[in-house]
Amino acid sequence: MTLVIVVVAALKGGVGKTTTSVYLAALAETKERRAVIVDADPQASAADWLENSDDEQVGRIEIIEAPTDRLLSKALDRVGDDEIVVVDTPPGNERLLAKALDRATVVVVPTRVGGVETPRVEALLDMVPQRVPTGLVMCSARTVTRDYQDTVDGWIEAGVEVWGTVPERVAIAAGPAGWLAGDGIEAYRGVWRRVQRAARGL
Ligand SMILES: Nc1ncnc2c1ncn2[C@@H]1O[C@H](COP(=O)(O)OP(=O)(O)O)[C@@H](O)[C@H]1O
Ligand SMILES: [Mg+2]
Repeated sequence: MTLVIVVVAALKGGVGKTTTSVYLAALAETKERRAVIVDADPQASAADWLENSDDEQVGRIEIIEAPTDRLLSKALDRVGDDEIVVVDTPPGNERLLAKALDRATVVVVPTRVGGVETPRVEALLDMVPQRVPTGLVMCSARTVTRDYQDTVDGWIEAGVEVWGTVPERVAIAAGPAGWLAGDGIEAYRGVWRRVQRAARGL
């Protein structure tokens, strides 16, 4: 099996990177394949989540804290071919982000509905190497709104792939204080399938 590195990337904080990283890693974990989160954020929100969660699925995920360029490279060199790696990235460190994107098999971009989000996502997409398959995840979405539909339609028209939508839910917002939420698992399972398909297509 070849090493798959899924980089969860955004230029900004608070969009859903850590939530997306934890749910995807939990779904990636199988009997044959361990999931590892490489936490490149010095705030270590993913590491804190894994440490504090009572959720069994979350508890099985391995974590490597790697908040610098050097530690990130080392961590990615160390992971085995039979593991699935999800890299959670920090906001406001474009150098580290570029480094992670350079090693990515697949890139997942969490985003939200709203005018300010579009140019930020475009700037991020410009940083992704051409060969790397990339998809957006609409996080904390109110799917019944017109804004939501317009935003998704806009991305599709622009030729950007939208790999899934995660509804806004209190149980998802609870993070480490609760179990993984059913709605969240269901939504991220669809995203995970798209990630796998993209990784296989290479
Ligand atoms: N689907 C969702 N429903 C409700 N709250 C969400 C959802 N996804 C993320 N959040 C909340 O949004 C905030 C930012 O998410 P987080 O994953 O920490 O983003 P980032 O890592 O990009 O800073 C957190 O408080 C998180 O719990
Ligand atoms: Mg985070």
